[in-house]
Amino acid sequence: PEVLEISANRVNKTASEKAQIVKAIGKNDFLRRLDEEQISMMVDLMKALECRPGDDIIREGTEGDSMYIVAEGEVKVTQAGRDLRTLSSGNVFGELAILYNCKRTASVKAVTVVKLWCIERQTYRSIMTNKSKKKREQL
Ligand code: CMP
Repeated sequence: PEVLEISANRVNKTASEKAQIVKAIGKNDFLRRLDEEQISMMVDLMKALECRPGDDIIREGTEGDSMYIVAEGEVKVTQAGRDLRTLSSGNVFGELAILYNCKRTASVKAVTVVKLWCIERQTYRSIMTNKSKKKREQL
């Protein structure tokens, strides 16, 4: 049932959108460790989100519930008010709070109009859980 629930959340994407997500995952130190099936589920389940210049996407110190890939535009990462980096198309952010169960380590704000791909913590967990369940069943 869990797999069906996740599948129902699939968002259709063009081949080039899928390729962009796969490439971004491959460039991220943590996400690149996912296997092919997990990556393809991530690709199917990521949702599109659009922000306007100045929108706060992530606030440092808060609970995190999603991670993101920049599809278009630029976002600025700051910590305690200091600029850390500007991220653009193909960069992953917001993964730390999801992967390590910590509070947001920095703030992220839209600089331009920004298109993002986003995946919620719960959806990400379901992908991982589904995988380990399958592995157990094979033993
Ligand atoms: P997270 O802590 O979930 O939310 C804030 C995000 O900012 C964080 O995940 C990283 O994706 C990103 N981030 C934190 N520190 C840096 C840094 N030094 N350079 C670039 N990105 C960062």
